[in-house]
Amino acid sequence: MLDKPLPLHNPDFFKKSVVSPLRYPGAKRQLVPVIESLIQANVPPPRLFIEPFCGGATTSLRLAGTGHVDHVILADADPLLAAFWYTAAFDSKWLISAMWDEPVTVERWDWWRLAQPNGRRETALKCLFLNRTTFSGILHGRAGPIGGRAQESQYKIDCRFGKKGLEQRLSAIADLATSGRILDVWNLDWRATIERAKNRFGVLTSDEILLYMDPPYVEKAPFLYEWSFESAEHRDLAQALNGTNKFQWLLSYDDNDLARSLYTEHIGQTRLLVGNRYTAAGSERRKVRDELLVTNYPTVPASDRYRPLKAS
Ligand SMILES: C[S@@+](CC[C@H](N)C(=O)[O-])C[C@H]1O[C@@H](n2cnc3c(N)ncnc32)[C@H](O)[C@@H]1O
Repeated sequence: MLDKPLPLHNPDFFKKSVVSPLRYPGAKRQLVPVIESLIQANVPPPRLFIEPFCGGATTSLRLAGTGHVDHVILADADPLLAAFWYTAAFDSKWLISAMWDEPVTVERWDWWRLAQPNGRRETALKCLFLNRTTFSGILHGRAGPIGGRAQESQYKIDCRFGKKGLEQRLSAIADLATSGRILDVWNLDWRATIERAKNRFGVLTSDEILLYMDPPYVEKAPFLYEWSFESAEHRDLAQALNGTNKFQWLLSYDDNDLARSLYTEHIGQTRLLVGNRYTAAGSERRKVRDELLVTNYPTVPASDRYRPLKAS
């Protein structure tokens, strides 16, 4: 039921350090090499990679682009993001042309902030515009335009809106879709994504599917995302994952006590700490913080990229 994907027109694109057209708070770019090495250590590689909290989708785009997995499905509860990814993948000519036509000004920022588009295309453009022009890429809430309303900073509203570079990134997504690597984009809550995957791909064996869960930050989520998580949601997710062997899964969290307490040492599960350099929303300074990676993958080789977290 899942054919091998066709060759990519531009596979070299996926060697670049940034592949996503979205700037995303919490993007886990530095976890990708760790995820790649875990996939390589567990033969056979999964045929289908599903990212139920896809956000900026860096992980899926890179794994599909470099051939670590054959197919990906992107999903997110935020309708802006889902409309964006669907349009970028399957209607990219329209999005590229609309992006070129869009003036990048504070007046347009105000307009998009209030706009309530009801069609998928306009919603996708709203997502791209606000993500590239709003402080820290934050789509919802109170963050203002890059450069401030008066545009007195040396960084102006269009400083992250290089249209040529964005066109390249959007074209690469279209390449992933037309070659059969991006299979679909779902606007669903994570529970519904798991259900839909079971219904649609139930014939795949447990080692043919890999789910990568990157839920909202525990501490900063309400500020960063419209669809943020409460503690009860973090608990529900742990209940769905802990002990399951219906599919292979990987989970990443900003390392914190709640996450550690939800994923204690289960048989067949491994907890790893990975140093992650990141730029905190609300500041331009780089910080280093550990990411907690939990997985039910059977083989987790020793590596200097991470250290095991043992029960205390
Ligand atoms: C930490 S971000 C993911 C970042 C992503 N891994 C990246 O590299 O850009 C969390 C994402 O979860 C989404 N989200 C929040 N609640 C959700 C839910 N109940 N179901 C699915 N997605 C949800 C948010 O919209 C946000 O895009």
